[in-house]
Amino acid sequence: MFVLLLLTSTTKAHGSEHDSSVFDVTRAEYGAKPGSDITFALAKAWNDSCASLSASKVVVPSGTYKLRGASFRGPCKAPSELQVHGTLQAPE
Ligand SMILES: *[C@@H]1O[C@H](CO)[C@@H](O)[C@H](O)[C@H]1NC(C)=O
Repeated sequence: MFVLLLLTSTTKAHGSEHDSSVFDVTRAEYGAKPGSDITFALAKAWNDSCASLSASKVVVPSGTYKLRGASFRGPCKAPSELQVHGTLQAPE
């Protein structure tokens, strides 16, 4: 049995998309791919975003990804957000 979790992105009321750094979990250094388990990639991307000195966000592009669990630890050095455009699938 699958549990599907669909989240849509949050939009900021102010600020432009260009002044915040983006940590895309599908970047080679994180290694997330649609259909794969991105638990570790998401944790790494969050760590980097959280450690960033300026506002930043972690982005999960559209696609379906598996996730075993996630914990987002702070405190962060600057505002950090998570944007999910895809579908996160919990383990069977
Ligand atoms: C993220 O940071 C925490 C705290 O520094 C560390 O324990 C953890 O191993 C890091 N996770 C990854 C995936 O790098």
